[in-house]
Amino acid sequence: MTSPDIPVLQARGLIKRYGNVIALAGTDLDLMPGEILAVIGDNGAGKSSLIKALSGALVPDDGTITLDGKRVSFGSPIDARDSGIETVYQSLAVAPSLDIASNLFLGRERRRKGILGSVFRILDRDAMRQEARRQLDGLGIMTIQNPGQAVETLSGGQRQAVAVARAAAFGSRVIIMDEPTAALGVRESRAVLDLILHVRDQGLPVILISHNMPHVFEVADRIHIQRLGRRKAILDRANVSMSDAVAIMTGAMEPQDGDR
Ligand SMILES: Nc1ncnc2c1ncn2[C@@H]1O[C@H](COP(=O)(O)OP(=O)(O)OP(=O)(O)O)[C@@H](O)[C@H]1O
Ligand SMILES: [Mg+2]
Repeated sequence: MTSPDIPVLQARGLIKRYGNVIALAGTDLDLMPGEILAVIGDNGAGKSSLIKALSGALVPDDGTITLDGKRVSFGSPIDARDSGIETVYQSLAVAPSLDIASNLFLGRERRRKGILGSVFRILDRDAMRQEARRQLDGLGIMTIQNPGQAVETLSGGQRQAVAVARAAAFGSRVIIMDEPTAALGVRESRAVLDLILHVRDQGLPVILISHNMPHVFEVADRIHIQRLGRRKAILDRANVSMSDAVAIMTGAMEPQDGDR
């Protein structure tokens, strides 16, 4: 159950080595209920590795992960998804030639009731389109007119919105997004940022990885700074300047004691 003091998702001492390369050097993470936690750090700091460990795409060599205070161990992304953790990857994980509704239900298609669905595996397209419409409306994605439209005809921002909508539709505990606004224009980024805020306002906590400091400072409640495979600092957005956050990220400045 959600308690305001218990992290929804917590990592302690995660270690991941690739031969001589240490991607995660004993990193921690705490995601509190209802917050947007930004994860920032230089290239190679271990952000994606951390997120992969939390979303089951990577099995850490050591360390623990807890969800709602209970120890979990994810052997695959399906395990994490089954636990309510949805991840939006930076490389758009949508199938362009399929329509929006099919993309939303990719890998968990609804089948028709009875023998048509159970034996003949016939899809219930009407149900999926109705549900897709409901999800998109619920997220305030009004610019998408028709859930039957092929994703390849959508703009980049709308595609990203579909990926976010899919995560929001199925993520019941945590949503993780790796660089969701990278390569998007101003208006498209705006729409995705609004979606992230909307998801948070509906009570789902979000982990947002981004190199875009203005975006981070606009939406994050707290900022996790990853450096050399570890969490170097955890800061309240309201109490830190952008330049100090960047200085800690690059090692030019040490965090203050309370921030570690
Ligand atoms: N599959 C792999 N094989 C070998 N080394 C890897 C692998 N994945 C990651 N690494 C190494 O682990 C370190 C952390 O990589 P990671 O992708 O987590 O960084 P990142 O913080 O996401 O960087 P970026 O900002 O560039 O996305 C890097 O030194 C990287 O080269
Ligand atoms: Mg990365």
